[in-house]
Amino acid sequence: MSGWFRIDASGATSLYSAVHCAMDVAPDGSLTPLLMNWLGQRPLPAAMRDRLQRVVNQRAGQARGFFNRIGRRWDELRTEAFGTTFAMEAFIALLPREWTVADIGTGTGHLLPALSSHFAKVIAIEPAEVMLECARQRATGESLSNVELRNGDLTKLPADDECVDLAIAVLVLHHVPNPNEALAEMARVVRPGARVLIVEQESHENQAFYERMQDHWWGFDPKDLERRLVGTGFERVSCRRLLTAASDEGSPDSPSLFVLTGFRNGCDET
Ligand SMILES: C[S@@+](CC[C@H](N)C(=O)[O-])C[C@H]1O[C@@H](n2cnc3c(N)ncnc32)[C@H](O)[C@@H]1O
Repeated sequence: MSGWFRIDASGATSLYSAVHCAMDVAPDGSLTPLLMNWLGQRPLPAAMRDRLQRVVNQRAGQARGFFNRIGRRWDELRTEAFGTTFAMEAFIALLPREWTVADIGTGTGHLLPALSSHFAKVIAIEPAEVMLECARQRATGESLSNVELRNGDLTKLPADDECVDLAIAVLVLHHVPNPNEALAEMARVVRPGARVLIVEQESHENQAFYERMQDHWWGFDPKDLERRLVGTGFERVSCRRLLTAASDEGSPDSPSLFVLTGFRNGCDET
């Protein structure tokens, strides 16, 4: 078949004619695309248009009804369908892709998929062999080819001077006996003008938690950590409490968390 049918109506007679138009012919010679094309160009009868509109309106109402019905259960459905980290991954998209990022004390590599999907290179550092192996399995299992795993300690980082654009330490510092030494190491590996991001526990007195987590410090006073960060070569340091632990996501007896960010001295704003 190498044409399409044009249909004309004259009184009670229908006229069909074939017009050459090779592009409209399906490779298998089927008439379906030709008919669909023809139908698409015909105005719908008014009664059918009204019925269609009613169905469309009804479906829109059903979607609104669905969200009104599920209400608070949406949080549960959202996590069930998409997990909990996709929004964080979306926000990371605001940062430059070309950065090299160090995740220090990466643990099982929880952050690695999100970091790896955006940044050019990720250096994941971890002193505990079993944790490092878990991180390695995660990186291999999820084909995170831009992640380099290194066995090492925050007080003696296996990384060159000024080689990263962002150094992250999430829930690590309270395990380190000498935080000043650790912060100085972070300052060493961060490029001038580049950033540091630390997530920590606020000071607490929960002995069961302290013992369960094998912590070294009972959290930190955010102001004190801010001063220490400035003292080790960071500027424009800012701190704010995180909502997670206070929300229904966290356990009620877990300490509050805060995030501290700063820029390494020695360069104009980046
Ligand atoms: C509470 S876990 C947090 C892991 C990961 N950052 C996360 O958010 O899931 C603390 C991690 O810090 C590591 N760690 C403990 N002391 C450290 C040190 N001196 N230098 C680097 N990492 C250390 C532990 O082995 C552990 O993997």
